[in-house]
Amino acid sequence: MMMPAEKSDNLFCSLAGLVDERKTSTTVDSDPSKQAVKISVRNLNFFYGHHQALFDNTIDLFANQVTAIIGPSGCGKSTHIRTYNRIFELYRNQKAQGQILLDGEDVLSPEMNLIDLRKRVGMIFQKPSPFPMTIFENVAYGLRLHYRIGRNELADRVEMALKRSALWDEVQDKLDRPGTELSGGQQQRLCIARAIAVEPEVLLMDEPSSAIDPVATAKIEDLIEALKEKYTIVLVTHNMQQAARVSDYTAFFYNGSIVEFGRTEQIFKKPAMKQTEDYITGRFG
Ligand SMILES: Nc1ncnc2c1ncn2[C@@H]1O[C@H](COP(=O)(O)OP(=O)(O)O)[C@@H](O)[C@H]1O
Ligand SMILES: [Mg+2]
Repeated sequence: MMMPAEKSDNLFCSLAGLVDERKTSTTVDSDPSKQAVKISVRNLNFFYGHHQALFDNTIDLFANQVTAIIGPSGCGKSTHIRTYNRIFELYRNQKAQGQILLDGEDVLSPEMNLIDLRKRVGMIFQKPSPFPMTIFENVAYGLRLHYRIGRNELADRVEMALKRSALWDEVQDKLDRPGTELSGGQQQRLCIARAIAVEPEVLLMDEPSSAIDPVATAKIEDLIEALKEKYTIVLVTHNMQQAARVSDYTAFFYNGSIVEFGRTEQIFKKPAMKQTEDYITGRFG
């Protein structure tokens, strides 16, 4: 997609403006070396059969920060985050090589306990995907899997997760209704409740608001802002405004490689790479 330079420059300014607007509400240490690294990725390569989809991805994700992953469709955003909890191993002929450290532990090691890993690294998908069960059971499911707890504590934890995902007020009177009866935006918050109920450390969100309306999207964005106090969040988004609004760091992917990574402010105001600038100003993608 090509855009006249003037129009794309305006877009550039308005994106930079979005970053400025929210600066007051975020406290980010400006020196990345002082921040705790939650996930450290080194030379990650990924293969679908013989097709290589990721090339030497190297990136550090900081604890309690939101990192946005942006880039055109098919550049490897989903593939990249699906390595963090090894969810790709549910499929045949998919292979990751390289190093992913979660608090220093080797995620790709054969010794890694996958049930435990997927509890620690929760995931929210593009299409809201509640289980075919009640609202209550959707959230209780993972709790039962990971903890031995009695009925009262289970109910308390379900309530807490629904409150933290800003859904409680809307569902407290119909916890026994099927999750699939909720609106799309509510279903997505239910999936967030399901993910956070088990107290993960990292939340992976793969275009979580691409299938829901703008009001629901705004709710999810507010939620992300609140959740980063407890979790490290990785947000894949093709919506540049969303990345500018909610993320602290941004990684720009292209053709399976990480072209540029930095503070969101820097990426949107002063990208180092021409490719990054061309993408965020809408000159391609
Ligand atoms: N299941 C799959 N089998 C084979 N190739 C795939 C599969 N899923 C994704 N790919 C390929 O891997 C590349 C990256 O895809 P993906 O990670 O889905 O990109 P994005 O999330 O950025 O749109 C693309 O070339 C895509 O065609
Ligand atoms: Mg994707």
